[in-house]
Amino acid sequence: MTACTVVTRAANILVFMPLPIKSHFHGFQPLFEELAHRGHNVTVASSFPLDRPLVNYTDVGPFIDKTRKRNVMELVHMDFITSVQLKWDIGIKMSDLVMSHENMKKFVQSSSDSFDLVMIETFCQEYTVTMGHKFNAPVINLAPAMPWVSNSQWMHVPATFSYIPDTCLKSRSDMGFVDRLKNTITGLMQSYADKYFYLPKMKEAMNTYFKYEGWESRPPLEHMLKNVSLTLVNSNFAIGVARPYLPGIVEVGGMHIKPPSALPENLQTFLDVADEGVIYVSFGSIVNLNDLPKEKLDIFLNVIQKLKQKVIIKWIPNVNVKLSKNIMTGAWFPQNDILAHPNVRLFITHGGLHSIEETVNYAIPIVGVPFFADQYLNMKIAEDKGYGKLVNFFEITEESFENAIKEVLSNVMYKEVAKIQSQVFKDQPMRPLDRAVYWVEYVIRNGGAEHLLSDSIELNDVQYFLLDISLIVLVLIGLIICLCYLIVAKMSSKKLNTD
Ligand SMILES: *[C@@H]1O[C@H](CO)[C@@H](O)[C@H](O)[C@H]1NC(C)=O
Ligand SMILES: *[C@@H]1O[C@H](CO)[C@@H](O)[C@H](O)[C@H]1NC(C)=O
Ligand SMILES: *[C@@H]1O[C@H](CO)[C@@H](O)[C@H](O)[C@H]1NC(C)=O
Repeated sequence: MTACTVVTRAANILVFMPLPIKSHFHGFQPLFEELAHRGHNVTVASSFPLDRPLVNYTDVGPFIDKTRKRNVMELVHMDFITSVQLKWDIGIKMSDLVMSHENMKKFVQSSSDSFDLVMIETFCQEYTVTMGHKFNAPVINLAPAMPWVSNSQWMHVPATFSYIPDTCLKSRSDMGFVDRLKNTITGLMQSYADKYFYLPKMKEAMNTYFKYEGWESRPPLEHMLKNVSLTLVNSNFAIGVARPYLPGIVEVGGMHIKPPSALPENLQTFLDVADEGVIYVSFGSIVNLNDLPKEKLDIFLNVIQKLKQKVIIKWIPNVNVKLSKNIMTGAWFPQNDILAHPNVRLFITHGGLHSIEETVNYAIPIVGVPFFADQYLNMKIAEDKGYGKLVNFFEITEESFENAIKEVLSNVMYKEVAKIQSQVFKDQPMRPLDRAVYWVEYVIRNGGAEHLLSDSIELNDVQYFLLDISLIVLVLIGLIICLCYLIVAKMSSKKLNTD
């Protein structure tokens, strides 16, 4: 049975993702549109209103007056410890900015709306879960990447440190001793330090900004987070990490990939006439090449200009930069449609999740220069699987960058593996978007679907990890050893006496 044949009454759905994190929002936005198409009345509180009207889709926001562009060089030094602090920092700062905005105050305090379902993102904004309390509605959490420890703990899904790498760890699943140690440290920080240094700030934000009618009866933040009905995760085991999930945690990575549409005429011609093939270069929405140190930018450009392929770069160069004729630049390109063109031979990327999903979908091999967050892990996995090469930004030279490009272009293995990856990624019982719709409507039909929650949700760590039982077993073993020792001692002393 597909999602489309199950009848669900049209529901009033609130999407509450106010923080201005573009890639997180755009990974899930196709789902909101699809729900509106299916007749649900979708209200989206975000920093990214649609640029066109859509029936059954109402935007609320934005909640910031203008987006501050982050300089990527502030983010590249993130490691397995500072990434945790950075997440805390971003969450606390951005929350104040967004929640104190006039539009937001009006929306939170208004009591005219009612909703049957609330969809939130908890990354850096755990307090959003209180919208479920305000509207007395079940909550769905939208996870922008594979769950990390600090949100796995609310769902009680195992985030075993020995083989599930933290998304910000510069490692992969087959970790050596040092990597496992780092993974454990970042995991423990997220499970325990979070509660003392970060969650209190989130509660403070919640109690400051979410004073709607009836807020006094609100359960503690931890209880509401544990009571989230369903978590939709933007990842896919075939191109990421294979790990155990619960019935209420559903992977929907790739929802944003649409069948390719026609390219603008100039792009179509540029791609069509490229006899040597085309290389597409994009470092995503946060990385602006103009922010790179000059020597790094020169490395990129010197290598790219020497290539015999045509090159499309998502970038607006400064006026004094002269580029050779094989290069086309622009502020934005229809990446999905470009990657679908048969002349594209290589994608040079930052390793962002959406880019990885698109490149795998169209079987295009990659050279990746990761900058921050999960990009390193994504690229490491691509390299391990064999459809890409990782170039370290700090160690990059013209030679290493050029060699990586030549290697991926000339060795047919990369393309072959990319094709296999593409096949397993696409071989799914239903499209990721349909799967997401199915589960959203499932929660609506089943009034919150509490049976999806883990049966372990009420256990504390001592009970969950059987620490109390282990203690008893250890004591018993100790007692038995003592007893044996005493008996042996007794017997040998008897023997001595009788001798
Ligand atoms: C909007 O929702 C109504 C039902 O609530 C539905 O009949 C209609 O088809 C939807 N419109 C579009 C364009 O999807
Ligand atoms: C749909 O949502 C909008 C915005 O929240 C609301 O104003 C409108 O009354 C809703 N329509 C229906 C039919 O519930
Ligand atoms: C948990 O969520 C359900 C709806 O999914 C709701 O009925 C219930 O009151 C919630 N419980 C708590 C403690 O928040």
